[in-house]
Amino acid sequence: MVILTARNEKRGKAAVESLRHECNLSNIIYHPLDVLDDDSVASLVRHIESRYGKLDILVNNAGVGGVVIDQDGVRALNIDPSKWLSGAAANLLEGVVIQTYDGAVECLNTNYYGIRRVTEGLLPLLKQSPSGARILNTTSLRSELKRMPNEKLRDAGAWDEQRIEAMLDEFLEALRRGRLEEEGWPTMLPAYSVSKMAVNLYTRILARRLPEMCVNCVHPGFVRTEINWNTGVMSPEEGARGAVQLALLPHDGPTGCYFHQTELGVAW
Ligand SMILES: NC(=O)c1ccc[n+]([C@@H]2O[C@H](COP(=O)([O-])OP(=O)(O)OC[C@H]3O[C@@H](n4cnc5c(N)ncnc54)[C@H](OP(=O)(O)O)[C@@H]3O)[C@@H](O)[C@H]2O)c1
Repeated sequence: MVILTARNEKRGKAAVESLRHECNLSNIIYHPLDVLDDDSVASLVRHIESRYGKLDILVNNAGVGGVVIDQDGVRALNIDPSKWLSGAAANLLEGVVIQTYDGAVECLNTNYYGIRRVTEGLLPLLKQSPSGARILNTTSLRSELKRMPNEKLRDAGAWDEQRIEAMLDEFLEALRRGRLEEEGWPTMLPAYSVSKMAVNLYTRILARRLPEMCVNCVHPGFVRTEINWNTGVMSPEEGARGAVQLALLPHDGPTGCYFHQTELGVAW
């Protein structure tokens, strides 16, 4: 049984209907979820607990870019996909992609704190999975530590939630003071990159804490979706391959790892 969640009921139900009809899937239902809202998470937890008593696989996929963009401006630049991926597009994007403070707060809240809220809410049910649950967090190659100019961030050693959250506060303070570049934070999609770095670190913390489960994160590839204003080069079906592979890992599969699509990658 698959529970497909979305904060927008109309879009969530439409997605379920299209999977039912176009892909001939019957065991799929919609349940509302806004990852920013404690009550919404609690309602999902109650639903799963009362109907199924356990959860085998959790895919944390909700995400936002947290920037304000001039879509026509981005299209007019006609940026080569390799420049998006390498980060070389950062200078070109100045003026058409703007990192606001409010956008950064929304981005960190959705991409990192949202995952933490949903995972912690569902953990008691994941622990009931008889075969050892799978948790899969969608990340991005923007998160890779080698892309972080700040030496301090490249320390892949001992992180816990407190240290992650202190780092996010420091980032917001640097943004508020207009000092991202001086303090060595990423300049291309700053909040998004930092939020996904936090996702990777949180993935490793969970994997260490929950050895009976497989907890991994995956960069889906550069996929044509709304988050990148449809500039991606892969179809959503291709982008989903890594997530599906990790959701269905065998019992002795890898844990605490970062995957670049379907291949093991290096993020830290
Ligand atoms: N596309 C890429 O090239 C790419 C690359 C690397 C990583 N990713 C990651 O892949 C994941 C999926 O993104 P996508 O590419 O499919 O982009 P997308 O089409 O923009 O999907 C993002 C989804 O997250 C949902 N969402 C945002 N805030 C939410 C909230 N508070 N509660 C519940 N749902 C919320 C959005 O819901 P609404 O429809 O209601 O807005 C939307 O359905 C994200 O984590 C993204 O960072 C994508």
